[in-house]
Amino acid sequence: MLIGFRKISLRSCLALRVIAVNGIVNQSTAVGNLDHKPNGNNESVEVKPFSEIPGPKGLPLIGSLLTVLKNDGYYIKKTHLYMIMNAKKYGRIHKDKMGNFDEGEEWRRFRSILDKKLLKVKDVSAYSGRMNDVITDLINYLTKKQLEDDLNGEISNLRDCLYKWSFETIGTILYNKRLGTLQDPPNPIAEKFYHSVCLMFEQSNDLAPIPPYYKYFKTKYWKDYCQLWDTMFEIAEQLINEEHQRLQQIMQDIADKSVDLRRSEELEFLPYVLLRGELNSDEIVGNIIDLMIAAVDTSANTMLWTLYILGKNPEIQEKLYQEVSNVLKKGEYPDSGAIQKMSYLRALIKETQRMYPILPGVPRFIDTDIVLAGYRIPANTRIMAGFCVMSCDESIFDEPTKFKPERWIRSPSKRRLDPYIYTAFSFGPRMCIGRRVAELQMQLLIARLISQFRVECRNTGEVGQIIRTVASPETDIRIALEPRIN
Ligand code: HEM
Repeated sequence: MLIGFRKISLRSCLALRVIAVNGIVNQSTAVGNLDHKPNGNNESVEVKPFSEIPGPKGLPLIGSLLTVLKNDGYYIKKTHLYMIMNAKKYGRIHKDKMGNFDEGEEWRRFRSILDKKLLKVKDVSAYSGRMNDVITDLINYLTKKQLEDDLNGEISNLRDCLYKWSFETIGTILYNKRLGTLQDPPNPIAEKFYHSVCLMFEQSNDLAPIPPYYKYFKTKYWKDYCQLWDTMFEIAEQLINEEHQRLQQIMQDIADKSVDLRRSEELEFLPYVLLRGELNSDEIVGNIIDLMIAAVDTSANTMLWTLYILGKNPEIQEKLYQEVSNVLKKGEYPDSGAIQKMSYLRALIKETQRMYPILPGVPRFIDTDIVLAGYRIPANTRIMAGFCVMSCDESIFDEPTKFKPERWIRSPSKRRLDPYIYTAFSFGPRMCIGRRVAELQMQLLIARLISQFRVECRNTGEVGQIIRTVASPETDIRIALEPRIN
């Protein structure tokens, strides 16, 4: 039962990409040379045919697959560099081919149900309390680990700690209970679940560019990989069943039978999905696993980069500390209302996402012929929007190599920012469904850490990016936390 597999093709950064567009589509004023007209009716400019779009020649069937696989798969691990290199060589719009992947349409129905609960600011704000509980556990976990590690305040394997934080946060939102990876001792089922999710990330990344012959020859690697999925499904099913039984008991116990829980606006995520009855049990489990998989490495890696930036830039850190301590009283925990008053904090995370985008870009199939940057693109072509290329484009960002959170802060004297330049969570009906959850959990975490600790980065040189399903730090980010004495 591998429902979650549709996500692997969606999120693997090497899915078939016929066109890479590295600018703002339909915003010709902002970028200059990109314009888009449905049905190809662009009378004023000369429209060139699809065949004239520049790009690597590649081989007839597999396109550029060999280029990305050679040198031990260098460009699999460095997809962002592959995209930047091609943009430099062939221009902002170019075409490429790397094998074939399918994409289902069923997600539309799932999204219409799940969006309602996950993308509404009001609903997500209600999770502040639970998110803070997980942060409290993380801070206790880190403090204990610091003592055990005895590395002069440095925390070994910070990546694992942050993965546990994002796993635990999404777990408490989705299953309506704490899973227990950060507790002492950890809950063994939660540990098993967590390790299956982490291993699955690693192995999906290894399998992504390989044609799927392993499915038919059933290699040991493939069998172990399937076992991970089975474990994830078994545990998720168990957790969902427990919540289902709890809800049925509550429904039986409600004396006033005219109360219809299903209509309640106050419902948590899982009770809402279960009581609506619009998804069958396999669909619920599959979607919940998808959400978990998409939540863990994305938020954790963004936090690793944010701490890296804070540790390397004491003046940015001080500015943030001043803002947070102006908003919060001593010992007070932030909530979404407090975060609204912290414009520098929000800008800092956005700027981190610009410099270190978690996905180098996103693919889309177009369902109608369009004209893009002067070329006619036929329907059913897959277009890749190259976010990592846009991030370092001088025509979009002033001094793109500099880390400047201020560029995201609105002020009456500044020109309004084009909303399409903030690409971290993508756009349109397929944009990240976890955006609101991710933003709030990250903002709360950084606000809490900065009010309690000074962050020091012990990496001597620059840390590069590598693609491990998502763009991650190439070496360990070495962070020491020093308690603030107030
Ligand atoms: C910093 C954290 C995160 C970043 C940067 C991020 C970014 C993205 C991006 C760029 C996409 C692709 C959207 C597209 O194709 O246009 C995506 C998809 C997705 N994200 Fe996130 N994400 C983050 C956290 C989360 C969290 C916390 C969740 C779960 C609550 C989540 C769930 C998903 C799902 C399920 C999809 C697939 C959506 C679909 O295909 O309908 N993400 N994310």
